[in-house]
Amino acid sequence: MSTLKLTNLSKRFGGVVASEDVNIEVPAGKVIGLIGPNGAGKTTIVNMITGLLPVTSGTIHVGNADITHAPAHEICRAGLARTFQNIRLLGEATVLENVMIGFHRHETSSTFAALLGLPEAGRETATLKERAFSLLGEFDLQAFADYPASGLSYGHQRKVEMARAMASEPDFVLLDEPIAGMNDVESNALAEIFMGLASSGKGVLLIEHNVRFVAKLCSYIYVLDGGKLISEGTSDHVLNDPEVISAYLGDAHHA
Ligand SMILES: Nc1ncnc2c1ncn2[C@@H]1O[C@H](COP(=O)(O)OP(=O)(O)OP(=O)(O)O)[C@@H](O)[C@H]1O
Ligand SMILES: [Mg+2]
Repeated sequence: MSTLKLTNLSKRFGGVVASEDVNIEVPAGKVIGLIGPNGAGKTTIVNMITGLLPVTSGTIHVGNADITHAPAHEICRAGLARTFQNIRLLGEATVLENVMIGFHRHETSSTFAALLGLPEAGRETATLKERAFSLLGEFDLQAFADYPASGLSYGHQRKVEMARAMASEPDFVLLDEPIAGMNDVESNALAEIFMGLASSGKGVLLIEHNVRFVAKLCSYIYVLDGGKLISEGTSDHVLNDPEVISAYLGDAHHA
């Protein structure tokens, strides 16, 4: 059983310290929460893990492999996948095509041939399409398979991102506010999916503003404020921690 481990992870943007000596562990088979007020540094952490932002200092390991300075495609091959807080889909492409893009970790050149519609990729395309369609089924999106992704609601677009992330068959999934813009029925359905991912052995890092949702799902929660971890532990522990309460009240006062 592998663990995604961040050790003393720091990120500075000029004078702004977005992350300071952050230590987080995401074990396989668990849903781990990462919460904190706006600007706390949550997305910055995911951007560093996935190689989108260079790390200022500290390390990132998957099991024994050090991926701190690995390029994004190697990080993907190491078994990490994410979704974006600001949805990143190919708006003109169909929902099905967007999910097919996620297969590239395993099927390299042929996937692109398939996406470009090259004839030699015909049979493979059919298989990839079937697999993508079946992933859409897990997120209740099959009815939208042939729609342009940009035509879907934000809630549905977030689910397309999740289906695409799952296409790479990751060991660890990093979800940046996955239920934003969803109603209770949709977010409860996703809660079931997240639990299923964990019970199938994946490690899930869940960033979310809805603290009740996180408390319900996560065995362990980390709380960031101003780039630093101010609390960690079970939901009972962190939600009753005076530091956490004052960080959130301060956020409400500023809002
Ligand atoms: N590319 C960047 N350049 C400069 N500053 C940045 C950059 N990205 C983030 N920051 C700053 O780093 C801090 C942390 O931002 P980050 O987006 O990680 O917070 P967050 O916890 O994800 O917030 P939210 O809940 O609003 O999504 C903020 O002060 C932000 O302005
Ligand atoms: Mg964010």
